[in-house]
Amino acid sequence: MQNRTATSVANANIAFIKYWGNANDALRIPVNSSLSMNLDGLYAQTTVTWDQPADTLVLNGIEQTGKPLERVSRHLGELRARLSIQRFAAVESVNNFPAGAGIASSAAAFAALTVAAVSAAGLTVEERELTTLARLGSGSASRSVPAGFVEWHAGSSYKSSYAESFAPVNHWDIVDVIAIISEAHKATGSQDGHPTAKTSDLQAARVAGAPERLHICKKAILERDFATFADVVEHDSNLMHAVMMTSRPPLFYWLPPTLTIMQAVREWRAEGVQVCYTLDAGPNVHCLCIRKDAEQVSQALKMLSGVVDVRMAGVGGGAKIVASGKR
Ligand code: DP6
Repeated sequence: MQNRTATSVANANIAFIKYWGNANDALRIPVNSSLSMNLDGLYAQTTVTWDQPADTLVLNGIEQTGKPLERVSRHLGELRARLSIQRFAAVESVNNFPAGAGIASSAAAFAALTVAAVSAAGLTVEERELTTLARLGSGSASRSVPAGFVEWHAGSSYKSSYAESFAPVNHWDIVDVIAIISEAHKATGSQDGHPTAKTSDLQAARVAGAPERLHICKKAILERDFATFADVVEHDSNLMHAVMMTSRPPLFYWLPPTLTIMQAVREWRAEGVQVCYTLDAGPNVHCLCIRKDAEQVSQALKMLSGVVDVRMAGVGGGAKIVASGKR
């Protein structure tokens, strides 16, 4: 028997206004809307083949059991339930960046998995619904489905929480120069971090101000106003990390070089370089800059102690199918 198969590629994304904490953990409905850009060339490529005796997962060539397989199988279960698919799937995925170190690997992974699984099932689903489906696997994955600069509307139900592009890839040539200081898998992943957000006294204040920050950030992007963009992006990242550090138990994602880089970035900006920082749930520092300054920022980061590697990514496209058929 021939089984339907499809391969999808989805880029990671970096949030400018962060998602941290859910109003509904099971449905991954966040407490605030978020903004991001996709990261060109930092991707997951995933092949899904239905009609298998059981769900299986091969990640970067290694057969997975335990938690990674359980999370993928749970997501496939959601897709089966919501799209009336009655089969199991073989999933093979590769990604080209360190997983679990603050470069949203689950975003690329669950966006690619969702898009490939739907296509391999022979279904046509609109982009908006693909974002809601991807969200069930990993919240930030909803933002890796549409292209370019993306807003995830928090919403209040399965359907009303979705992501959409608000500016195309070529709107503004921002580059994410990522200072990697550790490729180690982080101790507490985002999935286990979100439920702790509400234990911080600061979370309510962070959430209350999020709509205004999002408005300012979106406007700055649309007007290509780097100074305003830099100010609000750094502030939003600082607020999220303040919440993390004051949760119970506290989450400290920074390592000593993280702070060194953050301070250097602020000094470079004061000297006229258009650069700012943002951090996800990990120690690596995402230095956002205008393309003309990217090489200079990369060279300067490499001179700082503790930086083991630097990766660069421009604005990326949305998730897409790269192959499909039967096998
Ligand atoms: C800090 O989307 O990875 O990167 O829904 O549990 O998979 P799950 O969490 P995830 O959380 C992302 C958190 C963040 C900020 C962001 O990307 O907005």
